Amino acid sequence: MQAKKRYFILVSAGACLLLLFCFGGIQVPLSRRSLSRRDGGTFLPGARWRRSAGVVEPYSAGEQDPKDDANELRLRDSVPEKPCRMESCFDFSLCERNGFKVYIHPQQKGEKMSESYQNILSSIEGSRFFTPDPSQACVFVLGLDTLDRDQLSAQYVHNLKTKVQSLPQWNHGKNHIIFNLYSGTWPDYTEDLGFDIGLAMLAKASISTENFRPKFDISIPLFSKEHPRTGGQRGYLKYNAIPPFRKYLLVFKGKRYLTGIGSDTRNALYHVHNAEDVILLTTCKHGKDWHKHKDARCDKDNAEYDKYDYREMLYNSTFCLVPRGRRLGSFRFLEALQAACVPVTLSNGWELPFSEIIDWKTAAVIGDERLLLQVPSTVRSIHQEKILSLRQYTQFFWEAYFNSVDKIVLTTLEIIQDRVLQHKSRSKLMWNSLPGGLSALPQYSTYLGDFPFYYAKLEQDRSVRSSYAVLGMGCPPFFSWPYGECFSGMVTSPKFTAVIHIVSPLVSQSQPVMKLLTAVAKSQYCAQVIVVWNCGKSLPAKHRWPVTSLPVIVIEGENKVISSRFLPYDIIRTDAVLGLDEDAVLSTTEVEFAFTVWQSFPDRIVGYPARSHFWDSDKERWGYTSKWTNDYSMVLTGAAVYHKYYHYLYTTYLPASLKSTVDQMSNCEDILMNFLVSSVSKLPPIKVTQKKQYKETMMAQSSRASRWADPDHFAQRQTCMNDFAHWFGTMPLVHSQMRLDPVLFKDQVSILRKKYRDIERL
Ligand SMILES: *[C@@H]1O[C@H](CO)[C@@H](O)[C@H](O)[C@H]1NC(C)=O
Repeated sequence: MQAKKRYFILVSAGACLLLLFCFGGIQVPLSRRSLSRRDGGTFLPGARWRRSAGVVEPYSAGEQDPKDDANELRLRDSVPEKPCRMESCFDFSLCERNGFKVYIHPQQKGEKMSESYQNILSSIEGSRFFTPDPSQACVFVLGLDTLDRDQLSAQYVHNLKTKVQSLPQWNHGKNHIIFNLYSGTWPDYTEDLGFDIGLAMLAKASISTENFRPKFDISIPLFSKEHPRTGGQRGYLKYNAIPPFRKYLLVFKGKRYLTGIGSDTRNALYHVHNAEDVILLTTCKHGKDWHKHKDARCDKDNAEYDKYDYREMLYNSTFCLVPRGRRLGSFRFLEALQAACVPVTLSNGWELPFSEIIDWKTAAVIGDERLLLQVPSTVRSIHQEKILSLRQYTQFFWEAYFNSVDKIVLTTLEIIQDRVLQHKSRSKLMWNSLPGGLSALPQYSTYLGDFPFYYAKLEQDRSVRSSYAVLGMGCPPFFSWPYGECFSGMVTSPKFTAVIHIVSPLVSQSQPVMKLLTAVAKSQYCAQVIVVWNCGKSLPAKHRWPVTSLPVIVIEGENKVISSRFLPYDIIRTDAVLGLDEDAVLSTTEVEFAFTVWQSFPDRIVGYPARSHFWDSDKERWGYTSKWTNDYSMVLTGAAVYHKYYHYLYTTYLPASLKSTVDQMSNCEDILMNFLVSSVSKLPPIKVTQKKQYKETMMAQSSRASRWADPDHFAQRQTCMNDFAHWFGTMPLVHSQMRLDPVLFKDQVSILRKKYRDIERL
């Protein structure tokens, strides 16, 4: 008996140790509340930076500023006992019938609305999620401005409580999202919005981990009213400097609060300032009566503050300090991201923006306010490679989720959509790798290999996995593989599907489309030939089609709707689509060459007819040109290979307004596709060279000649460029001069050369 007991204890102790070991370290189960009560702001004697894989994290997450305790108690009064979760406070049934649609309550006359809130509403209205019909809606957004809930602010909307409760669709806030940038007021800046939000979700800046309801609320970044509505600026990083150090190590320039909440950290910054590579500047000059509170340091600080130009510092520093202000979030965060200056946050208890999906350890250093004095030595010790990586992630996150109000709003909505369509949600990997979650739609697939972007990642994984397979060990344990088995075989798809768009009737066997069909079907890489019959006439009889080695599948387009050539037909089985106009003149080898090149660039359009855009400064608008120059920014989809996923994006991601413009004119669909692909990939298409003079041959074709020669057709294309640039908020097309030529493509020249050694000796 005794022995058995001892044995049992031993085994359980062993098991416990093993468990602890496996689950990444020992964690003391202290609740957040007890933590914040216990160490309430006093310096933890043993507190240290914890380092994991070169990233510095605070010793304990979720600690709260002691001054917040008072606010917290007050907040508790209005918050229900159990915090909301999607399961308890959200009605999923509203999303079942029509999908994820968002309704905006009517704006009330005479109600003031800030520019930022106006922008948020416009972003929703311009998105594919918007519905004007409340009975179709899954999620609701207020037409009343809730962004600034500081009673002292000019933007503050009074009597929100009654106004909100009188809304017919309010329903205790169920399925509502409430946007907020500022809450509370002097002196304690609580997170209370001053009205009962009921069961609504909060999309709030400066939200504390304490009040944040995980997987229900969304932490958004603080953005200024100048933040662009659409488009947005690119990140500052253009080249990687190696070694990656900039002139300054760490900088900050901002207000100093002499008293009150949030003043401690900024008041202490001068200790760390060294006037060499660590430049931390504060000014007391803000607010009406700063003179009254002025302390001994103010004059010196203010003088130092004026010596430096903020932009010069921001863009010339490796790290940027982001200390809390009155509230937890600060404008400095987004500014640093854009400038490729790695943010070092000093804002204990701040739930970082979009923390639900973004892995901030890859792009920021999360500091601890209590350890300010250690910040310089900590950032100094971060390895060069890590700095490069952090810097690149700042740029990725900035451009993917933050650089416009559109992106911030869409990211918020997509996060909620992921929760609603649980089985079709993005993995963290999709959110945290290029091109980001907004371009990788999980309704298309949740399997990475189905997208054009992750081949390289899969290739890496595959090599690890195949070495496992060789050893007969099955799948490596550390891959969470969606299909539960190891992936094998080619990563990029080995074949393509030709999709030929036909708009004129078949009248003679000598029509170019007949030759095209035969040439394409002959390719060893061609898996399927699909004809989108868009000519408005009934289908020709079977015998009128050419005899091809592959069966031709004919789909009747919807009544000459030109966008139907880009529908994501289920019948397309391959990743690669060879898009063809009926008058394209291509030989079998030309088709195969384009496809072979595409396999190396699956995220781009690869093909023959190139066009370019330019800025017409006289007319102050974008121009379109088909002039033959060395420069191009579009490859027309009339003879090009691209990934099937772009059919899906074109159909679901673009708003109905753009697609209907295209359909009404029966023009510009190819330009729109180029805008779309470049806006996702941030890259130009790829032109492959053709022996024949493609343009001239095309012009000679009777069927299409009329269309291309038509000046209206050309004028329409100019207009399209400008309409599209307007919707995208920027010009996504990228110029290129690269041509890939079949001569010497991927040939091992050095080996071939050895065959003719004597030549080199001549
Ligand atoms: C970086 O510093 C240099 C030298 O002081 C300055 O010329 C440059 O304008 C700075 N960069 C920016 C973007 O301000």
